Amino acid sequence: MRFSSLFTPSSSTHTGAAAILLGFSLWASSARAQDRTTEAGEAAITDPNQECTPYTYTPVASLASSFPANWVQPAVIVPNDTEALNKWNSIKSSIPTNISVKGTVKGDFSNFTPTYPTSDPDCWWTYDKCDTPKLAGLSPDVINIPEPLSLGYGFDDGPNCSHNTFYDFLSTNKQKATMYYIGSNIQNWPLEGQRALADGHEICVHTWSHPYLTAVQSESVFAELWYTMKMIKLAIGVTPTCMRPPYGDIDDRVRAVAKALGLRVIVWQSDSFDWEVGSTPGVTPATVDANYQSLINAAKNGTYATSGTIMLTHELNNFTMSEAIKWYPALKAAFTAIVPVGVGYNITQPYLETNYSLPSFSQYVGGQLTATGSASASSASVSSDAQGGSKAGAAMGMPTASNGLIVSIVTVAALLGGVARVLA
Ligand SMILES: *[C@@H]1O[C@H](CO)[C@@H](O)[C@H](O)[C@H]1NC(C)=O
Ligand SMILES: *[C@@H]1O[C@H](CO)[C@@H](O)[C@H](O)[C@H]1NC(C)=O
Ligand SMILES: *[C@@H]1O[C@H](CO)[C@@H](O)[C@H](O)[C@H]1NC(C)=O
Ligand SMILES: *[C@@H]1O[C@H](CO)[C@@H](O)[C@H](O)[C@H]1NC(C)=O
Ligand SMILES: *[C@@H]1O[C@H](CO)[C@@H](O)[C@H](O)[C@H]1NC(C)=O
Ligand SMILES: *[C@@H]1O[C@H](CO)[C@@H](O)[C@H](O)[C@H]1NC(C)=O
Ligand SMILES: *[C@@H]1O[C@H](CO)[C@@H](O)[C@H](O)[C@H]1NC(C)=O
Repeated sequence: MRFSSLFTPSSSTHTGAAAILLGFSLWASSARAQDRTTEAGEAAITDPNQECTPYTYTPVASLASSFPANWVQPAVIVPNDTEALNKWNSIKSSIPTNISVKGTVKGDFSNFTPTYPTSDPDCWWTYDKCDTPKLAGLSPDVINIPEPLSLGYGFDDGPNCSHNTFYDFLSTNKQKATMYYIGSNIQNWPLEGQRALADGHEICVHTWSHPYLTAVQSESVFAELWYTMKMIKLAIGVTPTCMRPPYGDIDDRVRAVAKALGLRVIVWQSDSFDWEVGSTPGVTPATVDANYQSLINAAKNGTYATSGTIMLTHELNNFTMSEAIKWYPALKAAFTAIVPVGVGYNITQPYLETNYSLPSFSQYVGGQLTATGSASASSASVSSDAQGGSKAGAAMGMPTASNGLIVSIVTVAALLGGVARVLA
């Protein structure tokens, strides 16, 4: 409401202009709070309802027809997408055809498991937490952090439209994390996706539509990963080299597709079950608190004295993010290092674009937390501090109180012209 200060009782002879200016003042202050066109503008919004009101970001919206349908399971290769088809055809021969597609995309394996050999020939994580592939040529899944008492910190299912409070918390605490982003969410909330890069977090692929991947035909597994990589590149400007399978549901067939796309597989050792609160009867906030506490107890009793760990936590909704905030101080006290997973493995070049880097583990624990370099999509709006909103206002050429106290009728008329254009 900065413009209100322009009015004093002595302005009463200009009542008409005052009313117009007051109207503009209301519009200007809400427009400034509602900059929905830049990363910094989105990052400055504090009202969760406003954060979650859809906006249009043209660079992403204009290419919607080049991507699969939003949130439709499973993703398929877009008809006539020759780049995707050529890539699929070039990797197809490396994908095993003797590993069964299992169950349903919603994770009902009841018709499959009764006949599945207990020897787990496919190294199916959902069956027995297998993380060391049986098919030659595949790397083991990442399930922990090699450094002692270190926690690989990360969050699945973002970007969530209402994540500013949580990301502000991470920034305030100078804490970076690995964000496992869903392609459909980035398509809906591209500027929220940009914030992860601007804030120095690591970005990994968490599929286009979040299906159980072992239930998806190989060509669609490819589509789930490929289009998420493409969407992250389009919206954020980088191409990830890591993926996390939804629900951890992976086998050697799915691993082969990820490998062919240059994606390292990251799973976890323990699950907070934060994601099941509200959807699975019996899983309550107390369950999640007990799981966080158990991780902390294990850190304190020597369980991670020789190598650290990874726990599954989410950017899914207000509850999961609130839990992360609530437990952060206790995690900080229990672990000697809390790092993005790539940092834990010295993956200093986390993206295909070679001009962007993360610190090594020793740099990070030594206090160098910030990535160097920047990517094209967010280079103009890398800063995402609390001043973002007013910077956006200044960038729009709006008068500010420091411009002086006299705003002429001519200026008001010009501004109203601007309002009319905005409303048109
Ligand atoms: C694919 O390309 C063919 C040949 O150019 C065209 O006839 C067809 O309409 C296209 N299909 C889609 C879905 O764009
Ligand atoms: C699938 O075939 C490959 C060789 O192409 C073989 O090494 C592997 O053991 C087979 N996997 C299963 C589950 O039968
Ligand atoms: C350490 O704590 C964890 C979590 O409470 C527990 O599961 C584990 O058995 C404990 N280990 C030892 C060696 O006490
Ligand atoms: C994001 O979080 C909000 C607040 O909890 C929730 O209402 C919304 O459904 C979430 N969005 C997605 C896509 O999960
Ligand atoms: C959860 O929602 C409340 C009410 O809107 C809000 O005050 C709080 O900041 C939210 N917490 C997070 C972590 O987003
Ligand atoms: C990361 O780099 C440090 C310093 O060179 C080294 O001690 C450590 O083993 C490396 N970690 C991994 C997982 O390679
Ligand atoms: C990094 O490289 C990409 C192309 O791969 C380019 O679009 C981008 O502008 C570069 N960013 C910086 C900061 O050099």
